[in-house]
Amino acid sequence: MRAALIDELGRPPRPAEPPDAEGEGALVEILAAPLNPIDIAVGAGKFFGGHPELPFVPGCEGVGRIRGGDGGLVYIFSDGLGLSRNGAIAELARSGSVEPIPVPGGADPAVAAALGIAGLAGWLPFAWRAPLRGGETVLVLGATGTVGVVAVQAARLLGAGRVVAAGRDAARLERAREAGADAVVPLEGDGLAERLKEACGGEGPSYVFDPLWGAPLLAALQAAAPRARVVNLGQSAGAEAAVTSAAVRGKLLELYGHTNFGVPRQELAEQYHRLVSHAVAGRLTVDVERVSLDDVGAAWGRQAEGASRKLVVIP
Ligand SMILES: NC(=O)c1ccc[n+]([C@@H]2O[C@H](COP(=O)([O-])OP(=O)(O)OC[C@H]3O[C@@H](n4cnc5c(N)ncnc54)[C@H](OP(=O)(O)O)[C@@H]3O)[C@@H](O)[C@H]2O)c1
Repeated sequence: MRAALIDELGRPPRPAEPPDAEGEGALVEILAAPLNPIDIAVGAGKFFGGHPELPFVPGCEGVGRIRGGDGGLVYIFSDGLGLSRNGAIAELARSGSVEPIPVPGGADPAVAAALGIAGLAGWLPFAWRAPLRGGETVLVLGATGTVGVVAVQAARLLGAGRVVAAGRDAARLERAREAGADAVVPLEGDGLAERLKEACGGEGPSYVFDPLWGAPLLAALQAAAPRARVVNLGQSAGAEAAVTSAAVRGKLLELYGHTNFGVPRQELAEQYHRLVSHAVAGRLTVDVERVSLDDVGAAWGRQAEGASRKLVVIP
């Protein structure tokens, strides 16, 4: 079997021929396995949950077909995949103790894979963690990343009244506009809180989608409307933010944390089905770049620097 293999923490994986995937669960012939920020953190030894024993195959998710199964596509994720046991950037991977999740018919494997960890992170805050109430003004921070571009579209599909996209990369902000944002706000420059509030109109955002934390979150809290809900799911702009008590209590803000790993399995499967069905029907798009296993090392470096589209390894 061919797979990506990490021999040393902090170094990119290389194509190799490790032994076939062992352990529990269905044996899945992988057709597409994305690179995500979490894989880079695990491979660098910087993920709080540790890493599998070296050398290991990275990759926390994949789409493929169960060997000996009915031929339908399945999505595998969790139960330590790529975190405490070998991952999915390989020709073969094990689902572990959890059932593989069926992929809706007609889905492209690379798109279905990109809508896993990244797609669900853009979707689940609105659909499950702090469900949109309809007509809300949503501010999407980090709208230039894959998670953020999905979030813009998810907010639209799930009934937001106004969607404002904020990010650093100018070209990707335009992509967010094409994806359905009513206004875009560059994160860099002076007066961010005022600019965010103005773009949102009225009292400011009533819902903040935040994969960044750090300084952009502080500005968003300042811009937020009274009783706004804020969902954090990442820390791309910094692990810490000096949030004052007054900023939260004065406006009765509600702060939620989200991780895909904390979602009950049945809920995850149902929401994944809804999300990928939107893509199959053409109502939601995600930018995917397919890379071969031979190029996994270079792709790894690009993801570490912040790729402008979802890099998906085709083993
Ligand atoms: N909680 C969960 O379950 C979950 C699941 C998936 C992802 N995440 C998190 O969500 C975040 C985005 O993931 P992704 O797949 O979309 O990654 P990505 O495609 O690599 O995008 C990275 C995003 O972070 C932004 N960014 C990076 N450094 C920044 C900084 N210093 N200041 C402001 N913005 C910065 C980038 O902005 P520019 O392009 O404009 O520079 C881009 O929008 C990551 O933190 C990831 O760990 C969480």
